[in-house]
Amino acid sequence: MAKTVKNNTLKLKFESSRNLAPAPESKSAAKISERYDLFIDGKFEKPLSKKYFDTINPATEERLAEVAEANAADVNKAVEAARNAYDKTWKKMAPKERAKYIYRVARMVQERAREFAVIETLDGGKPIRESRDFDVPAAANHFFYYAGWADKLEYAFPNRQAQPLGVAGQIIPWNFPLLMAAWKIAPALATGNTVVLKPAETTPLTALKLAEIIQEADLPPGVVNIITGAGATGAAMVDHPDINKIAFTGSTDVGKIIQRAIAGTNKKATLELGGKAANIIFDDAALDQAVEGVVNGIFFNQGHVCCAGSRLYVQESVFKTVVQKLKDRMESLIVGDPMDKNTDIGAINSKQQLEVINTYLSIGQKEGAEMYQSSCSLPKKGFYCRPTIFTNVAQSNRIAQEEIFGPVLTIQSFRTDDEVIEKANNTPYGLSAGVWTDKGSKIFNMTTKLKAGVVWANTYNKFDPTSPFGGYKESGYGREGGLHGLAPYLNLV
Ligand code: NAI
Ligand code: MG
Repeated sequence: MAKTVKNNTLKLKFESSRNLAPAPESKSAAKISERYDLFIDGKFEKPLSKKYFDTINPATEERLAEVAEANAADVNKAVEAARNAYDKTWKKMAPKERAKYIYRVARMVQERAREFAVIETLDGGKPIRESRDFDVPAAANHFFYYAGWADKLEYAFPNRQAQPLGVAGQIIPWNFPLLMAAWKIAPALATGNTVVLKPAETTPLTALKLAEIIQEADLPPGVVNIITGAGATGAAMVDHPDINKIAFTGSTDVGKIIQRAIAGTNKKATLELGGKAANIIFDDAALDQAVEGVVNGIFFNQGHVCCAGSRLYVQESVFKTVVQKLKDRMESLIVGDPMDKNTDIGAINSKQQLEVINTYLSIGQKEGAEMYQSSCSLPKKGFYCRPTIFTNVAQSNRIAQEEIFGPVLTIQSFRTDDEVIEKANNTPYGLSAGVWTDKGSKIFNMTTKLKAGVVWANTYNKFDPTSPFGGYKESGYGREGGLHGLAPYLNLV
């Protein structure tokens, strides 16, 4: 790789990485049925609605399968199955027996990791490297971790009695379909609750594959029910009187609708909503590492990440250097076929989401910000977006305030710690943040003052099942993961 150093900025020649031979993962690992019914009471059942809808591959726009659309009567059937399983089996089962089932699911997810990874990528558009190396192992880890807690709740909450809530209604988004199913199902089961889970309408297939595993694992019928559908199905779950807890991950708008719908009921809720995280680079940071962290922070999973580092703040003295390094690095990112093992940025999850992102690209330019995109070419078919950065951004610009949920970064400069803290916290959200500096004292100063549920220091997007995750303000409430993730599924008396 030829390097030339000019005016203190590094220019790397990356053309070579674009010319890698294709390395496509085989589709043969994935067994996808033509049609999927609803998984209720341990069986796949035809929907009472008699309706089905398509799920497509956003990288090719081809139809993958059709899945059932659950109506309110189907939701009711699933909730009845979950209630029955709760009363008759799951609540009464010895916790160590419950743990065995969860361990079994964890092991089966691992054993079929390749199939899960391929289906996740086909259905949602994320690079196979990410499904294979992140989503699927992280999902299995989540089941393993919470299986371990199932018979140890008295140690998690000493001197208290940990009682399950009953039936949990769980509604998940399309950005990490299998992983979000694991985040929701594992702690619910470990604490003795039963589940009705609804995956997002664009990415139902890995949850339905998980249903097959749950069936093979011989989990008592009705303990986990997986139903498909769009917003109306989710709303019917939220409104169902026999659901004790709603666990939701998705947009802040829907989070607010749910909050209103459950007001005055006994339903508990955890809401994991949007974000607009500040990623802050100080002039004493290891800049190459910081640039890698910024790239990971905003371009991981096409930027469809609630904790994406979508607002970059760079200390003024290194601003130009960082922006140049970032542009250089963006040129090296491979955008295209998600099934290719070399791909860094895959397809945008849906046509609608691509429209949202493109709307923000024009808003940003109209607001007077300067847009820069990598020069890569995009596939003719499918939904794609070039990695994009905006400079000359004002704090009040919509692109700096609103969640875009795509590979789009705004960059601003700052001079002092106080200034950047104020700018970073000037957002309706508060899910995550990142700090890049050589000084431990600065890290501690920032982490105490940044209003975000998770603050990463000299790294970004690090996840671990033992670590709690969740937000402040419009990013929602409640924590998932770790010991903290058990409490929202329990009555502690
Ligand atoms: P969404 O919030 O509409 O969808 C998330 C889930 O909620 C899906 O399963 C959906 O079927 C369900 N849902 C929709 N309306 C509902 C209702 N009234 N009651 C109950 N459930 C309902 O998210 P959408 O429209 O797909 O994405 C829009 C924006 O939301 C994105 O551009 C992004 O900014 C944000 N988002 C944030 C996520 C996060 O992880 N925090 C995940 C997905 C989207
Ligand atoms: Mg799909």
